[in-house]
Amino acid sequence: MKFLEATKENIKIAASILKSKGLVAFPTETVYGLGADGLNEIAVSKIFEAKQRPTFNPLILHISSIEMLEFVATITNKKIDLLTKKFWPGPLTLILKKKDIVPYIVTSGLDTVAVRMPSNKIALDLINEFGSPIAAPSANSFSQLSPTKAKHVAKQLNGKIDLILDGGKSNVGVESTIIEVTDDTQYLLRPGGIPKEEIEKVIGKLKNKSEIKKNPNSPGQLHIHYAPNMPIRFYNEKEIIRYSDKKLGGIFFSKIKNKELFSEIKILSENGEFHEAASNLFSHLHYMESQNLDMIFVEPVEEKGLGIAIMDRLTKAVNKYK
Ligand code: TXA
Ligand code: MG
Repeated sequence: MKFLEATKENIKIAASILKSKGLVAFPTETVYGLGADGLNEIAVSKIFEAKQRPTFNPLILHISSIEMLEFVATITNKKIDLLTKKFWPGPLTLILKKKDIVPYIVTSGLDTVAVRMPSNKIALDLINEFGSPIAAPSANSFSQLSPTKAKHVAKQLNGKIDLILDGGKSNVGVESTIIEVTDDTQYLLRPGGIPKEEIEKVIGKLKNKSEIKKNPNSPGQLHIHYAPNMPIRFYNEKEIIRYSDKKLGGIFFSKIKNKELFSEIKILSENGEFHEAASNLFSHLHYMESQNLDMIFVEPVEEKGLGIAIMDRLTKAVNKYK
């Protein structure tokens, strides 16, 4: 496996690996993606193998132009144009009617396809260089923490993929917001990098859809996901005393509490900014995971704006150890 800095030259190497059906982990503004040729079934099947997903789950196609979008999906709705104009490139994924060119392994047999145009320059350059949509889930092993740095990818997928392109830290830090807009109604499928309220300003109210009923294999919508490989709980002033004999990690929003009880402490954002907190979330969890701790405590954040996506990821991690 190669580990290369994302220079112009190395982006060319990455594109040629994709052309020969290989796997390339690359940075996006949300999290690192594990990319393969999105229109080739063999290439896409390698993603599932490398991630060890127990079943096939639908993937997001990453595009770099509206022409590429029209190549893979049908725009059935005026609101879609409003959304792409306002939020692309950026952390918004749209569920659209797929065209025949998209293999069913990408969509897990659904007639819809998830599409997103990332804003990260390296990601866009790679898609342009490759010249076709790149299918990419987050570059982590199934149900583990999402990667926001190249070294997080190496930790989980070392030897299982062909190349990791190192492009520094993902600046949004949580996955894209996923929405589905039909003629009759519009749904939020996953909270993420663009707050729901911002989207509602453009197209009106979004409903929550419990996708789990329709497709229980959708990992971002499972109740247990994004978990570190050690117990994690929400910080609770009263409960914490009971664990005073344990080696604890503490992740706080902006102010440290009960400092003396923790062997490792991280703060999401000193100034209490959700953007900064989201961008640090997974990297702080990876850090705690690499320390020799008994348990991680994380302080809940207020559920507004990006705080909704942060709490979505944390709740799923905590649920794993309930
Ligand atoms: O920010 C992101 O979205 C990152 C970066 C790499 O772009 N990607 C990412 O992919 O989070 P992944 O595979 O970890 O999550 C994709 C989510 C899954 O929950 C999947 O179920 C949902 O998208 N999805 C994909 N296609 C779908 C479809 N046709 N209908 C409903 N949900 C779909
Ligand atoms: Mg994921």
